Amino acid sequence: MKVFIGGAWPYANGSLHLGHIAALLPGDVLARYHRLKGDDVLYVSGSDCHGSPIALRGKKEKKSPKEIAERYHSEFKKSFNGLDFSYDYYGATYDKEHSNEVKRLLTIIKENGYIYEKESEQFYCKSCDEFLADRFIEGECPQCGLTARGDQCDYCSKLLAPTELINPVCKNCGESPILRKTKHLYFKLSAFQEDIEKLVKDNKNIWRENAVNQTLSYLNEGLHDRAVTRDLSWGIDVPFEGYEKKKIYVWIEAVCGYLTASLNVREDWREFWQENDVKNYFVHGKDNIPFHTIIFPSILKGINQEFKLPERVISSEYLTIEGKKLSTSRNWAIWVDDFIKRYNSDSLRYYLLANGPERRDSDFSWNDFVNRHNGELLGAFGNLVNRTLLYIEKSFDNIIPSGKVNEEIRQLTVDVFKRVGEKIENGEFKKCVEEIFNYVRYGNKYFDTETPWITFKEDREKCNNSIHNIVYIIANLSILLEPFLPKSSKEIRRELGIDIINWGEINIDGLNKLNGVNKLFDRIDKKVIEEELKRLNGEN
Ligand code: MF3
Ligand code: ZN
Repeated sequence: MKVFIGGAWPYANGSLHLGHIAALLPGDVLARYHRLKGDDVLYVSGSDCHGSPIALRGKKEKKSPKEIAERYHSEFKKSFNGLDFSYDYYGATYDKEHSNEVKRLLTIIKENGYIYEKESEQFYCKSCDEFLADRFIEGECPQCGLTARGDQCDYCSKLLAPTELINPVCKNCGESPILRKTKHLYFKLSAFQEDIEKLVKDNKNIWRENAVNQTLSYLNEGLHDRAVTRDLSWGIDVPFEGYEKKKIYVWIEAVCGYLTASLNVREDWREFWQENDVKNYFVHGKDNIPFHTIIFPSILKGINQEFKLPERVISSEYLTIEGKKLSTSRNWAIWVDDFIKRYNSDSLRYYLLANGPERRDSDFSWNDFVNRHNGELLGAFGNLVNRTLLYIEKSFDNIIPSGKVNEEIRQLTVDVFKRVGEKIENGEFKKCVEEIFNYVRYGNKYFDTETPWITFKEDREKCNNSIHNIVYIIANLSILLEPFLPKSSKEIRRELGIDIINWGEINIDGLNKLNGVNKLFDRIDKKVIEEELKRLNGEN
């Protein structure tokens, strides 16, 4: 089975924070799981490098937009690597392969009649000789009177059209712009109303509920045509005459990244997009929903090559930090590059999967993070593995005792694989973690009731058998947890000498000698809670 997984492309104008990761991590779990199942997986994403915020930031820092995007693109790659994201391809929208392909796709959509030209009046700055993008115009907000941009007032949040501003000025030079006729290209989104209605209907039990609801509410209002071109100097060129000074609207080209990335990595990319028996997943945060459930499917329809539309939409709610809304401008955020310098990446993955914003907002708090790490990861899981393997090291001279796996334990293991697999495919990651940790607790309880430290002297055969069963549980955990905690799972497999793995129950008859035992997790000192809260509050 072919499985396509598209992770949202983060904007390359600021560092990644835990909110991004909470939304994107499900993609990596899915990719790892499907690979274990033997599926042919194509998991792609990249950095979203165009658009006016990046252009603006470049201006402020006296750097080219490209330099800004490159800086964050390379930072993103490091952060994703540090968290063991297993993308098959992670690109950037400024790559030639992407922009050339986007131009080609746009041409096809235009030839198919879904892109048209329309004239309108727009602010133009004579001294800069430029049409001004909405957010490059400043003026008084008609609602609160404070300084607002042409798209929105940051003080009172009113959404604005630039013509509503009082005394508008050009943000570059401060001159008053004039209204002048210009033309833009528009995408006939309205033509796809029925297609999208059908799409939601077909998938209403598969998409996350927030995706269904948001999409329905847009459909209720009726889909409106959307501008495809922008007056910007940073972006992908518009491949049509008369548009030399304009660029393609960033959202239109960014979502095409799923296609451009696919054909970049795989010659047989069409098999991921045009065959019936293919699964696809789109993984992002809820602010991305309409782009993945309306715009992108309409683009695919507009290309008119029978592309499979988004089927499994995994759209997360928001992650709050210490009970408050995450905000990058107010620096109320925990940054990934910073986080991974101090903590185990599996600890973060564990926390954000066990406590992710799956169906409603969830909160990251340092206190809870430290407690869960110490209590669950280290206390339950790490402890089961370490006490068992250290015991083998010490009392069995590193040789895993042979024995027979209890039928009850084997059946339980087979069931856990089945239930967790189903839940992963349903996007229910919290429940998966619960299932697996119940299995961990079962293992610990079994250890305690079997009392191998007593039977070691009194009934060696029983002791051997108990330890054999616990190693069996641990070996199976190293597969069950591979999608969730790849680092620790891999370390266990190294210690036990397990090479090839597939999703499903594994027997351990071929295992013999341990390859050295390391602690999986260190205890986190509770005093870091204070330190981290200070850091978060900018007191460090
Ligand atoms: N850059 C967008 C964001 O960070 C996400 C784009 S997802 C894409 O919200 F697929 F459209 F690229
Ligand atoms: Zn100007």
